[in-house]
Amino acid sequence: MKALVLAGGSGTRLRPFSYSMPKQLIPIANTPVLVHVLRAVRDLGVTKVGVVVGDRGPEIEAVLGDGSRLGLRITYLHQDAPRGLAHTVSIARDFLGEDDFVMYLGDNMLPDGVTGIAAEFAAHRPAAQVVVYKVPDPRSFGVAELGPDGEVLRLVEKPREPRSDLALVGVYFFTPAIHAAVDAIEPSERGELEITDAVQWLVSSGADVRASQYGGYWKDTGTVEDVLACNRHLLDGLTGHVEGHVDAGSVLVGEVVVEAGARVLRSRIEGPAIIGAGTVVERSRVGPHTSLGRGCRVTGSRLEGSIALDEVSVTGVRDLRDSLIGRAASVGTTGRGADHHRLVVGDHARVEVVA
Ligand code: G1P
Repeated sequence: MKALVLAGGSGTRLRPFSYSMPKQLIPIANTPVLVHVLRAVRDLGVTKVGVVVGDRGPEIEAVLGDGSRLGLRITYLHQDAPRGLAHTVSIARDFLGEDDFVMYLGDNMLPDGVTGIAAEFAAHRPAAQVVVYKVPDPRSFGVAELGPDGEVLRLVEKPREPRSDLALVGVYFFTPAIHAAVDAIEPSERGELEITDAVQWLVSSGADVRASQYGGYWKDTGTVEDVLACNRHLLDGLTGHVEGHVDAGSVLVGEVVVEAGARVLRSRIEGPAIIGAGTVVERSRVGPHTSLGRGCRVTGSRLEGSIALDEVSVTGVRDLRDSLIGRAASVGTTGRGADHHRLVVGDHARVEVVA
């Protein structure tokens, strides 16, 4: 089996971060989402991976390289424009050959793994096996209607009136039967070749299409809220260890990772939390549920439930919560006695101050 991992897409819902980095490289528990995805693929015993990239390809290649560090062999496949998930299958036609494959969206996090579902697919080998998850409002997803034995009766992409509460998770197992389906479908209302329509084409033509209901944790990390929620979830499974320096005036509570070269000085870190390599935390309280990237500086501040990307500085801020702070951004206070806020904020950023 091979894998097709999709890392194109513009990530409009993750602005402003997606202006300066591919959304699939947003760090969750200090590891890019795409690396979490590739580890999940490797856990299936798959080593040949096609990664589909758009114009952000070079940044993704700079992080993943040829995949050998992750024990994978990566082939990069270029998509000229976001023409849909099914379109990526046709781009990958030569790479995939006549092999079965798992298609995995590069922004979907399933930290409990999909090895059980892969085993089901290998045992029964239906034309396609989709993964579904019960959600309260499935309108922003593909939606599946299932028969009593888990067979797929109907799939609709982002229906206005969903006929079930089963959303399609961004992980699909395919035999080469999918190629004829991809060739047969037309672009959707949003102008894309939808993988949901391709799978529905298989259903309509009488092929065996099965669904597995996923029981673990699932997040499509499409929004800031999703990214923060997923960070919390991953940190809840953290095991602490200290490689950096923690001075005698500091306390670590619970599971805390202090990476190499990081320094914690006269501070309290409440786990679960990660202090990235080379980051300095001084006279501050950090955590719980907080990940600080590399080379950050947090001084005289309190930070909780947040993610700071690399080289962020936070100075003199009393209570920062549930925040996502981009690379090399600085958050600070105005001078003593000032009676106003001052902001230098990029396009589509979001600032919430206490009224
Ligand atoms: C895509 C699929 C959708 C699926 C979702 C899962 O949506 O088209 O069927 O439910 O991924 O993340 P998109 O993220 O392209 O809107």
